[in-house]
Amino acid sequence: MKELDLYLADDTGSNFDFIWMIKNSVVPRPIAWVQTQNAAGRGNLAPYSYFNLVSMDPPTLMISFVGQKDSYDNIKETGEFVVNMVSEGLAEVETASAAILPAEVDEIALLGLATIPSTRVAPPRLAVAKVALECVFLSEIEVYDTRVIIGQVLGIHADDDILDESGRVDVLKYRPVGRLGGSLYTTVTNQYRHVVPGATPEWIGAQPGGEAALVALGASEPQKENH
Ligand SMILES: Cc1cc2nc3c(=O)[nH]c(=O)nc-3n(C[C@H](O)[C@H](O)[C@H](O)COP(=O)(O)O)c2cc1C
Repeated sequence: MKELDLYLADDTGSNFDFIWMIKNSVVPRPIAWVQTQNAAGRGNLAPYSYFNLVSMDPPTLMISFVGQKDSYDNIKETGEFVVNMVSEGLAEVETASAAILPAEVDEIALLGLATIPSTRVAPPRLAVAKVALECVFLSEIEVYDTRVIIGQVLGIHADDDILDESGRVDVLKYRPVGRLGGSLYTTVTNQYRHVVPGATPEWIGAQPGGEAALVALGASEPQKENH
């Protein structure tokens, strides 16, 4: 089998191909379209794709800020932020909001985006966002030149038009956008279901390595809950 193998350079700790391959392979990444304000109330908007959920109950999320970022500075100054989720049709203006501008420029006003007041935090949310999360600063981790902020989610707003009859998000109506490498994006346009099997002895025994697994188990093990 032929394959490409790349490793972290020992001397510099980084090299372009190695980083490029990782950034372009760990995809698609959800995009946090982060809305903040400084202490004086000046707004800021920028996308962050080194972003994901951290804990479930209560829900927290993480965003990585590489180098100096106004969004990070504002979160540290006020402790509050909104994560607008990017869905179909929003990637172009979301990308425009990543233009490197002085902190004095409010990207929300610059790009002519309408906002809706938030309920629990001072920064408003974007009217175009199908989903928005109101968050407060919880903790921070320093990783090389990057600061990872963990935020506590206080509230979620979801447009009625992305919900199914039971009030849950219908992903095919929501059509979230993910970041691929560089300037490439993707939209969720299909979904399929796989149910985690109950790890019964019958199911284990029917797997390719089932016989050995049953011997190793001796008796059936208590089942853990899967999330
Ligand atoms: C789709 C997308 C995702 C991005 N993700 C990140 C990220 O995870 N971390 C980061 O530091 N910068 C990221 N950037 C770059 C920032 O958005 C950019 O530096 C922006 O100007 C920062 O704005 P701010 O200083 O107003 O916060 C991303 C840019 C784009 C277009």
